[in-house]
Amino acid sequence: MGAGAEVDFLVVGAGVAGLRAAVELARHGEVLVVTKEALGESNTHYAQGGIAVAMEGEQDVALHLEDTVNAGDGIVYRPAAETLAAEGPLRVHELIEWGAKFDQTHGELLRTREGAHSLARILHANGDATGAEISRSLVAFARVHKAIRFAAWTRVTSLVTADNRVIGADLAEACPAEENCRPQRICARAVLIASGGAGQVYSDTTNPAVATGDGIALAAQAGAELADMEFYQFHPTALSLPGAPRFLLSEALRGEGAYLRNDRGERFMERYHPLLELAPRDVVARAIAREGMDAAGSARPVFLDMRHVTGHDLHKRFPGISAFLARHGLDLARDLIPVRPAAHYLMGGIRTDLEGRTNIAGLYAAGEAACTGVHGANRLASNSLLEGLVFGARAAQAMLADGPPLTRVECNEAAESPLPPDEERCVEEVIARLQRAMWTCAGLLRDDAALCEGLRTQAKCDFSLARLTQRGRFDRRLAEAQSLCRVAHAILRSALARTESRGAHFRNDYPQRNDQEFQKHSVLDRQGHIRFETW
Ligand code: SIN
Repeated sequence: MGAGAEVDFLVVGAGVAGLRAAVELARHGEVLVVTKEALGESNTHYAQGGIAVAMEGEQDVALHLEDTVNAGDGIVYRPAAETLAAEGPLRVHELIEWGAKFDQTHGELLRTREGAHSLARILHANGDATGAEISRSLVAFARVHKAIRFAAWTRVTSLVTADNRVIGADLAEACPAEENCRPQRICARAVLIASGGAGQVYSDTTNPAVATGDGIALAAQAGAELADMEFYQFHPTALSLPGAPRFLLSEALRGEGAYLRNDRGERFMERYHPLLELAPRDVVARAIAREGMDAAGSARPVFLDMRHVTGHDLHKRFPGISAFLARHGLDLARDLIPVRPAAHYLMGGIRTDLEGRTNIAGLYAAGEAACTGVHGANRLASNSLLEGLVFGARAAQAMLADGPPLTRVECNEAAESPLPPDEERCVEEVIARLQRAMWTCAGLLRDDAALCEGLRTQAKCDFSLARLTQRGRFDRRLAEAQSLCRVAHAILRSALARTESRGAHFRNDYPQRNDQEFQKHSVLDRQGHIRFETW
């Protein structure tokens, strides 16, 4: 690919949404999929528990819909949830035909249950490596398509617009050493942002290092509206061991019978929700946060307990989790496993319609980067892989149907300037400061004062980064820091504007749900104004 190259469709991101879209698009045009690391390194790859899908006909679909709507705490956009539940089975059957292998016994797909699901409907692969299997099968299927090219280790530095439409993107190699990297402009009939979420905006996250919200930031910079950014889901059970990463301990563990216990050995969920450990994720996360603190505010351990679970070889059922715990001296079948919540999934994102269209012509979004309203204020467990499949395919169909002509624009090549070591350090410090501030100010429990404090820190971080960009620096880490800052700003502003508690957004100063004013979605427009809308 050279400067000024062109392609019919550009897909940014190679997780489940981007790959599913690419397969659809490749039936009718040339597709370029760009991903800033190796192919396969995405949030999709790390998804453990499974993919929620109603494979048993109409009644099953209706129940999946109701569970999705109920988990979303009053603001799920029902047509989006209907689409997800109804089109999900077709997309999963298709995936199986293309080579995805879900766990089975005697030819029957195995199903597990997770929080807020009324029945066991979650398919899984290799026990606890469902995302890796979906990613593997989609990559393998897409690779044989002649019309799909992949550009790994390539990042988008900006979207190119002309006459209020997105007509392409500037790309740069994203290898660790960017010295030889030259920006390239690629023109396209349509661009899909499917670059996933932004867990790295928080200091404690289950997300991999790539989840820096780049696609969301790029779209916002180009004028795309963002929606529901205050709704960030915290997974209740990440490993809580000093020195260990916040490794995800799948909700499927609770689906298979794990209890939660406080440091007095009490099974405390009975005080919080009738569904106990399988209550909606936001409820469980806040319960753990409460139990994990004494009256003086000191941290106390909370544990996941599977010691009583018999009838399963837990190491076989959860091989990845067991292996990770073993490396840290813990055994799922014998030990209490210390847990605490960590940032996991962004329900908000680039606002789209049900076909992935944004408010900017030529720009589409799908998957975690997008917000269709399907999750409302709290995503139902294991709905995200299905979301990527269903809305990735739909976005591709819209890109094909809208069919604008290709516009060619010459590339303005920016001079390269990787960061000297002191500036590299400065960027890392800024990121760490922002992540800590987001965790304390816009985490599980928020209030006006904390959110304002978070905004002040975010502004200081922005200022430090602006000083570097004014020096003409051009570097992946600097760009990621800017993406995180932009996403943090959107989360903080949206969280301040929603003066109620709903789903994953809990305000200590407004602890009640206020349907009269806020049974609505927040929309952050290109001028930085927030409005609340009924969808
Ligand atoms: C998990 O395995 O608990 C995560 C699944 C999800 O986030 O939906």
